[in-house]
Amino acid sequence: MKNDQLHELLYQALETEAGGVQVYETALRCAVNEDLKDEWEQYLEHTRTHERMMRSLLETMGLDPAKETLGRQIVRHKGEALVEAMNMALKGDNPQAAQLVAAECIVTAETKDHQNWELLSEAAEKLPSADAKALKDACGQVEDQEDEHLYHSMGWNRELWLESLGLPAVLPPPEEEKDVKSAEEAARAKQSRKQMV
Ligand SMILES: [Fe+2]
Repeated sequence: MKNDQLHELLYQALETEAGGVQVYETALRCAVNEDLKDEWEQYLEHTRTHERMMRSLLETMGLDPAKETLGRQIVRHKGEALVEAMNMALKGDNPQAAQLVAAECIVTAETKDHQNWELLSEAAEKLPSADAKALKDACGQVEDQEDEHLYHSMGWNRELWLESLGLPAVLPPPEEEKDVKSAEEAARAKQSRKQMV
């Protein structure tokens, strides 16, 4: 495995979590639906914990959490763009539209976050022992939450869009009701929505 690129992924993963905190803090200002607000408050707390975990993981692996890389700067830039997009939406006079923008921004942020952890878990299998243990432990603690963040957010985004179109929507989404934690379960939950509307 190419260690330099693994380090790059770790720096990007830290930056993704740090940006995720900003994204959730801004999204909460856009949230109208009370269930969604509760969900995002919970995910904000998870994301704060993930950021701390990622920072200490880098230190355990002998890396400087403050080190800048171009890839990391790009991840930061994208996070800032998501925050800016939500702030633009908040300036409009349509709270439902701002909530929808926030739901989309969260899916975008969580897609990268989910991919980071999936890749780190794969990489952990190929690392020498001490680093492998630290990385595997972190992945073991975080991966279920990252699955939930992505698949539930995709469900909220889809149903809020349908509602905005004046079409039947299932809120909270079936992903939430069925406590979805994998792509397969998410696909089944999406299928089942037809019987729920
Ligand atoms: Fe995370």
